[in-house]
Amino acid sequence: MVFWSRPCHLVPGLFHVFSPLNKRYPLPDIIQLLPDNIANQIAAGEVIQRPASAVKELLENAVDAGATEIRLIVQEAGKSLVQVIDNGKGMSETDARMSFERHATSKIRNIEDLFRIRTMGFRGEALASIAAVAQVELKTKKAEEETGTYIEIENSSVKKQEPVAAANGTSIAMKNLFFNVPARRNFLKSNAAEMRHIVDEFIRVALSFPGVFFSFTGNGQEIFHLEKGSLKQRIVQILGNHYNARLVTVQEKTDYLNIYGFVGKPDAAKKTRGDQYFLVNNRFIKSPYLNHAVMSAYQDMIASDSFPLYVLFIDLDPAQLDINVHPTKQEIKFEDEKIVYAFVQAAVKHALAQFSVTPTLEFDLDAGIQQLDAINKPFTEEKQAAATDSSLFRNFTQKHQAHFLQPTNKSDLGHWKDFVEGEKKEYGIQHSETGKFESLIDKLKKEESSDGLASPLTAHYSPIDENTELTQLHNTYIISGTPRGFILIQQQLAHERILYERFSMAAAGKPIATQRSMFPATLELSAQDTVLLGDLVNDLNLLGYLIEPFGANTFVIQGTPADITAGNEKTIIESLLEQYKHFSSDLKFSRREKLIRTMAWQQSIKPGTALTLQEMQALTSDLFSCAQPNITAAGNPTYIEFKKDYLSQLFKRQ
Ligand SMILES: Nc1ncnc2c1ncn2[C@@H]1O[C@H](COP(=O)(O)OP(=O)(O)OP(=O)(O)O)[C@@H](O)[C@H]1O
Ligand SMILES: [Mg+2]
Repeated sequence: MVFWSRPCHLVPGLFHVFSPLNKRYPLPDIIQLLPDNIANQIAAGEVIQRPASAVKELLENAVDAGATEIRLIVQEAGKSLVQVIDNGKGMSETDARMSFERHATSKIRNIEDLFRIRTMGFRGEALASIAAVAQVELKTKKAEEETGTYIEIENSSVKKQEPVAAANGTSIAMKNLFFNVPARRNFLKSNAAEMRHIVDEFIRVALSFPGVFFSFTGNGQEIFHLEKGSLKQRIVQILGNHYNARLVTVQEKTDYLNIYGFVGKPDAAKKTRGDQYFLVNNRFIKSPYLNHAVMSAYQDMIASDSFPLYVLFIDLDPAQLDINVHPTKQEIKFEDEKIVYAFVQAAVKHALAQFSVTPTLEFDLDAGIQQLDAINKPFTEEKQAAATDSSLFRNFTQKHQAHFLQPTNKSDLGHWKDFVEGEKKEYGIQHSETGKFESLIDKLKKEESSDGLASPLTAHYSPIDENTELTQLHNTYIISGTPRGFILIQQQLAHERILYERFSMAAAGKPIATQRSMFPATLELSAQDTVLLGDLVNDLNLLGYLIEPFGANTFVIQGTPADITAGNEKTIIESLLEQYKHFSSDLKFSRREKLIRTMAWQQSIKPGTALTLQEMQALTSDLFSCAQPNITAAGNPTYIEFKKDYLSQLFKRQ
């Protein structure tokens, strides 16, 4: 207070700032470049958080160097020593020195390489980071050279460098981690806790490369000795013998990706999460989303509070991935994660079904995948052979994907505005969304002029009358004659439209009646899902779900929509959350709109479901009672009309 009451000119700082004289007495510049070692220490915080991070980086470097034998030695849970010795390709004298520079890497040359990457490393940061926060001794020799190189480095500066006699390969010892950053050293946990982290990282790398020999010695005792072998042997070596007879092979090859590995039989599920590994192009990643795909494949086969084992390798073109989204590379971004989700789920379901783990599995995810031979036919040896040289999913294009897999077509909007306005007037269309809707209209408009197929948008309401015969084709389409030709209805898309309008009306003020559950189901969710569900509870209530918070991360489902048979509401809500999360985030819909669309998709009858005549009648009559029967909210046609004129044109007859 005293300070501010003084006249300005008595306060030198203020005087400078406010006086025009400050031109003559310029303020000193205050920004300086940090010395390299400090900059490195700060940057190292991203990469090396604890001894286990160094273990991961050094093991990965050894793998990248093509080693077939890798030994890890730690003392005091890595706090005093982490050493990795490999028989890989070693480094030349100059490379050995260069390897500790920040951004020095032999693995990529330009940004495009990042999307072709097959190595674990690419940033050229790991060794620089380690050298900034520990004392490092490197010994390395290339097979084609006579002598090797020894380098000692500390606090980012080289202390010693000399030629040395050494075995082919590389040994890097990291001593006294954080010796120069005491605050961070104090943050390290107990030896037991740090050791657990190290074991986790070791296992992740060792599982990813069963063809490499690994050994791990802690405080002088060999904890793991893993001879090279098959993946199955490696899993049993690491995760325990009890899995031996309880592993089910997963193997699907497609043009887009390959999935292989093992899942545990349901009876091997444990009460603790843990033995669950996704290895994308051999890189261990964490993915709650893909985990959900596996868990949903096990649906109803294991208790909801238990966790199946899985070790699943997903190999795909690196161009379909962004691995550079997280400093430890344990999170990645798939170009199209919905496709990966669908494949993982289908592959695991398929595997479980093949091994008669369950006799009646429903493949209700999507039509494209269900109809693939890989999924709906038994997996014979002959098929397996065929799969090796020709792709099962050769014709697998996004067009054949189920509705929810289709990417948004945001381009090509043309003169949609005028057209929509016209349509709205003519048919009284009530539609709040734009974007996809209009692009479709535009597309259909073009299509009609070019190929003579009537677009749904130009059809009249209820083109079929009550007595029309209805036939179901491939358990997916309903075909019906009309006075003007015939129409082909896609059952899921039609149902989606019906539900969408029902839910929209409910949300707009005509809530769906709720029936109270006699035995309310309890939902335990992650913290993230708790927040999400908390946000959706009110909207869900309008749609008939009565959900109440019940302590930390727990909800009770007190009631469900009156017209839905109660029983699996828990699964419905869980998968609803999952679907909701992954609803195209690029579309700027309201939370409620997203919820409605997700639910409409989720609850719609899926392709592959046989319908009775009555059900078909109900579906068509409901569809044509919709305000906008011809397309789904996402813009896909629900039916296509083939006019007589067009048919005669095709057959070149009047
Ligand atoms: N064990 C090893 N054997 C042979 N060369 C190695 C070994 N470890 C590191 N190198 C060389 O040193 C370089 C730097 O290693 P560093 O781990 O710092 O970066 P990177 O592996 O290229 O990328 P990232 O920071 O993503 O790990 C590597 O690109 C590689 O050429
Ligand atoms: Mg590396």
